[in-house]
Amino acid sequence: MKGSFITFEGIDGSGKTTQLERLAESLRHSGRDVLITCEPGGTPLGRELRKAFLETKQDVEPLAELLLFAADRAQHVQHLIRPALAEGKIVISDRYADATTAYQGAGRGFDLKLIENVTAIATGGLKPDLTLFFDIEPQAAVDRMEFRAAHKKNRMDLEPLEFYERVRDAYLRIAAAEPERFRVIDAGRGIDEIAAETLEAVTEMLDRV
Ligand code: TMP
Repeated sequence: MKGSFITFEGIDGSGKTTQLERLAESLRHSGRDVLITCEPGGTPLGRELRKAFLETKQDVEPLAELLLFAADRAQHVQHLIRPALAEGKIVISDRYADATTAYQGAGRGFDLKLIENVTAIATGGLKPDLTLFFDIEPQAAVDRMEFRAAHKKNRMDLEPLEFYERVRDAYLRIAAAEPERFRVIDAGRGIDEIAAETLEAVTEMLDRV
């Protein structure tokens, strides 16, 4: 039995986590076996790593950051994602490898070939069946995050607007390069409208496989 692997991506403040919960609820309601997870921090070790390098005031070297996201992912893939897929579950992860391409590649400026190599090692080649990118203007996302000041809980939340603009452009470039895997969802609309499009995209993929 082989499950399905779905990932949610978006800049901080895009509302993707709310949509992920809505989607999981709808799928469970229709009798599907769903596992919700996230990066970084989808496993016990990952949660410790997350605290150590993301939810810290320490100065973290960009290369250390890149490798720690990869370490979190290696643990996540081997201990949680692959076993759940082998049991036939629908695994939905709040962020996965595309976040490294967007944040550490475009955001921090790491070479894309290096990121590809690190990602291949960390994931063992596991790719999502479907990736939903929740697209929002960076200014609107920053405004949302400032409104919800409590959300400012990790180092990434402190980046300037230009950082999120680079990250968003990178996601859009990946989406254009891999249209069969990616779906761009306009996240500037009402929650119900976005939830309906999300469910439709996922149902279409599940019916296909
Ligand atoms: P979140 O779990 O609150 O979304 O925070 C995770 C932060 O880490 C978010 O700003 C995106 C960032 N991130 C990366 O920079 N690279 C990665 O590979 C992943 C998974 C997340």
